[in-house]
Amino acid sequence: MEFDIITAFPDMFAGPLSHSIVKRAGEKGLVRVRVHDLREYATDRHRKIDDVPYGGGGGMVLMPGPLFAAVEAIREHHPSESSRIVLLCPQGTRYDQEQARRLSGFGRLILICGHYEGVDERVREHLADESISIGDYVLTGGEIPAMVLVDSLTRLQPGALGGEEAARRDSFGETGFDFPHYTRPADFRGLQVPEVLLSGHHELIAAWRKTRALESTARKRPDLLKPGAPRKAGAIQEH
Ligand SMILES: C[S@@+](CC[C@H](N)C(=O)[O-])C[C@H]1O[C@@H](n2cnc3c(N)ncnc32)[C@H](O)[C@@H]1O
Repeated sequence: MEFDIITAFPDMFAGPLSHSIVKRAGEKGLVRVRVHDLREYATDRHRKIDDVPYGGGGGMVLMPGPLFAAVEAIREHHPSESSRIVLLCPQGTRYDQEQARRLSGFGRLILICGHYEGVDERVREHLADESISIGDYVLTGGEIPAMVLVDSLTRLQPGALGGEEAARRDSFGETGFDFPHYTRPADFRGLQVPEVLLSGHHELIAAWRKTRALESTARKRPDLLKPGAPRKAGAIQEH
C-alpha cells in the first residue's frame, strides 16, 4: 500500500516512520510512504501556503492552490487506479478498525493534513474523496492523524506483523478484544501468571485465551459483541 502525505510540517514524520513495524514494512516493500512538503507547491517566492479567512476572524487557513497543485503533481508522477484522497478533519467520519479495514482496500491514500484554522472548504468539497477524524477532539494539525492512519493500515498489510494470526488476534479483530498477555517472570512480587499458560497444553491455552478475550470484551465494551459488531461500518462522508 502507498501513502502520499501532504503536509506543511514534513519533519514531523521522520520519527514515527523510521521505527518498528512501519519501518520494517517499508523495508520489506509492503508499504511505501512519501511525505510532500506543501510549501513546494506554493506559487509565490515566499512559499506562502496560508492566508487570512474571508469574512474576518482569527487564524489562518490553508489556501486551495498549493493543495490542489500537490495532489495533481502526485497523481501525475505516481499514477494509480486505486487511490483515494483523504482529508484529515475533526468533522470527518470517525476512524476505527472497521474504517481501517475499508481504507486498506485502496492501493494508495493521498492524505491531506490541515493546520491552523483548517483548509479552504473547496478542498473538502472538490478535491477530497472523503474526510476522516481520529476522534472527537481537536488537534493542532492533521499530521498526527495521518500517522495514526499509516500505522494502523500498515498493521493490516499481509506480512507486516510476521503472521496473519497476529493481525486477526488484535483487538477489534474477529473476537472483540485481544486476550491478556503475560511474560517472564512467572512470579513477579507474588503476582502469579495464570497456571494454564505454564502448562504447555496448547488446546487448554487456546480455550483460556478465547474465554478471557470474550470476558474482557463483554466487561469493557459489550457493544462490540452485538450482532454485526465490530465489522459494522460507520457512515462514510463522501465529497
Ligand atoms: C486546529 S484544527 C482545525 C479545526 C477546525 N477549526 C474545526 O474546529 O473544525 C487543524 C487541522 O488539524 C487536523 N485535525 C484536528 N483534529 C483532528 C481530528 N480529530 N481528526 C483528524 N484531523 C484533525 C485537521 O487536518 C485540521 O484541519
